[in-house]
Amino acid sequence: MEILHTPADARSYVLRQQREGRSVAVVPTMGALHDGHLSLVEIGKQYCDRVSATIFVNPTQFAPHEDLDQYPRTLDQDLSRLRSLGTDAVFVPEVASMYPEGCTTSVLPPRVANRFEGQYRPEHFGGVCTIVLKLFQCLPCDVAVFGRKDYQQWRVIESMVEDLNLPIRILAGEIVRDSDGLAMSSRNRYLSDAERQSALVIPRSLDQLVSEVRQGERNVERLQASLLKCLMGDGVSDSACVDSVDYAVVVDAESLEPISELDRPAVALIAAKVGATRLIDNRVIEL
Ligand code: PAF
Repeated sequence: MEILHTPADARSYVLRQQREGRSVAVVPTMGALHDGHLSLVEIGKQYCDRVSATIFVNPTQFAPHEDLDQYPRTLDQDLSRLRSLGTDAVFVPEVASMYPEGCTTSVLPPRVANRFEGQYRPEHFGGVCTIVLKLFQCLPCDVAVFGRKDYQQWRVIESMVEDLNLPIRILAGEIVRDSDGLAMSSRNRYLSDAERQSALVIPRSLDQLVSEVRQGERNVERLQASLLKCLMGDGVSDSACVDSVDYAVVVDAESLEPISELDRPAVALIAAKVGATRLIDNRVIEL
């Protein structure tokens, strides 16, 4: 597995592969890899001759009060997991090489970034779009693979790629869940055992939503009310609940715009806090 440190090394790696007739997939990550990330590498391998990951904790997508400093950094473990999976190359740039002194250009994210995460984390998608575009410049790949766990991020990147005519195919990997149902996330390691038990109400609320839809409910206001009630508990029994909910919505699966009836592909999006940890999850609603 080649370890690429500079943008120039990364670019020449990809161009060399392509010159020699091999297609290249890239899996952008911030490290602290779990099985969800590794499933994206597997997808990259299925579609391309070479798969490369990136590991870069991108400072511009964190607000000053967020967890940039605490974000888990497990580089040695990450590299050995990627190596054992047969990853061909890993790009691990320093902050100074991605954002050298005087680098002030940034990407204005597409409209689909405005709501939900964009509302609660106003700097976030500008930072994500900027770094993803920069990574695509460093690694001008054929395919890039993102996780559907960050559903809005995936939609934002797809829109950016379309709007900016980038010749890169974006693929999405399904959410990978632990055996208790919690969607895998690098931030799950912040949860205490008790908090993890409370967090399980998030996947449970999505399961409940799906069964209500299966029973015929199509009214989005009622579905959202029931999602929220499940997440917050009834306040009477000691059923598990989250501490606060930023949003729990059912929206159009592509534009993420509000809908009133389930008359098209939709997605349920949740962001909630358990203790100090903010978790997101989602479920595509198939009719
Ligand atoms: O999803 C992530 O890990 C990050 O937002 C990404 C896409 C690697 C950009 O830093």
